[in-house]
Amino acid sequence: MLERIEVVGGRTLRGEVGAGGAKNAVLPIMAAALLAPGRSVIENVPRLRDVEAMLGILRGLGVEGGFVGDGVLELDASRIGSHVAPYDQVRKMRASILVLGALLGRLGRARVSLPGGCVIGPRPVDLHIRGLAALGARIGVDRGYIEASGPLPGGEVLLEGRHGSSVGATLNLMLAAVRSRGETVISNAAMEPEVSDTAGFLSAMGAVISGAGTPEIRIQGVDGLVPAHYRVIPDRIEAGTYLVAGALAGGEVTVRDARAEQLRSLLEVLEKMGVSWETLPDGIRVTRASGLKPVDVVTHPFPGFPTDMQAQIMVLLALAEGTATVTETVFPERFMHVPELNRMGAAVTVEGPTAVVRGVERLSGAPVMASDLRASAALVLAALAARGETVIRRVYHLDRGYADMVGKLRSLGAEISRRPD
Ligand code: UD1
Repeated sequence: MLERIEVVGGRTLRGEVGAGGAKNAVLPIMAAALLAPGRSVIENVPRLRDVEAMLGILRGLGVEGGFVGDGVLELDASRIGSHVAPYDQVRKMRASILVLGALLGRLGRARVSLPGGCVIGPRPVDLHIRGLAALGARIGVDRGYIEASGPLPGGEVLLEGRHGSSVGATLNLMLAAVRSRGETVISNAAMEPEVSDTAGFLSAMGAVISGAGTPEIRIQGVDGLVPAHYRVIPDRIEAGTYLVAGALAGGEVTVRDARAEQLRSLLEVLEKMGVSWETLPDGIRVTRASGLKPVDVVTHPFPGFPTDMQAQIMVLLALAEGTATVTETVFPERFMHVPELNRMGAAVTVEGPTAVVRGVERLSGAPVMASDLRASAALVLAALAARGETVIRRVYHLDRGYADMVGKLRSLGAEISRRPD
């Protein structure tokens, strides 16, 4: 059923919300559970559409399990009956491609549909394929499917694409290399905290990995892995989204489980814009600034400013006193939110990979359409700050990455509801 979100803007937000487990860590960790026969238990797993999609794929491969309690996911990979991830599932979620490395590691073979493009621009998988080939996999593309088989001796891989490293390729290589026969060195590896967290789970399974979180990851393949019990890190993008909500419309908003060391680049931008924040023992508190200063933002791989926060920070910049630029170096076409924000009164123009954001005094409510996960979040933020009512359609995009966003914002005092469209 299609649903919409209705927001009456202008309410002051006050109070405390929590961030759930990190979606982008949960998905590779779920794929990693394929590597060991037996029952793994993952805690702090958010109820998200992407998590359901990954569960669907894993079940298709023979994994049994599901949620057994609040945020507790059990996955039993005792019997893996298939090595094929079909198009119908992969097209729903690009992160499905993470089962490629895990299946190679577990079964020595994998057949995974090519994901195809998506609204945030072309998303090739050449680095995944080249990387696995460098580990010794026989790999090719046949009728829309990536076909790969082992055994994998391991090897040296430099992950250098047109837009830098790749989070997904780094993960896929780790997932395959942990069961290879030799040593693997991944250079220019993605340093995202979710890569480190996945390495944490793999280590708990008995994998031998060092350097995760740095540009050079070393992996010594082992003969077998065992199931593990693991707790996932908090979601820095969800936390960051609520911090921006607080900066936009907050009297004072505390985000529990927001970790400053994972949010440095965002906190720096907030500070330069004139937003005050402080770290508390279990979170971060932001206080709304009176005048917002424009700051130029450039997205980069971690520890740079995350592309997954680009749309949200643009909303804040849209209300700054002056002109700022937002440049995308990770996904140069990721600006679908711009026309919708402009319909709400923002003054943003896109020139190649850069958006020029002229600050306006206020946004006004309007009917808008969500296009992807983070763009949807940005529209909700804009609606909170806008004068009047905003109706956001196609909100299923939000459910991919935000558990109960409407409930959380309402608990902060927002006038927001969700209903059938
Ligand atoms: C992951 C995140 C996503 C985030 C992105 C960048 C998950 C499930 N998703 O996506 O939320 O926005 O990192 O932080 O973790 N590229 C190539 N060739 C490849 C692979 C990627 O050219 O083989 C390019 C991409 O098109 C993009 C850039 O490299 O321009 C970074 O992509 P990548 O880090 O792979 O993103 P994902 O892992 O798909």
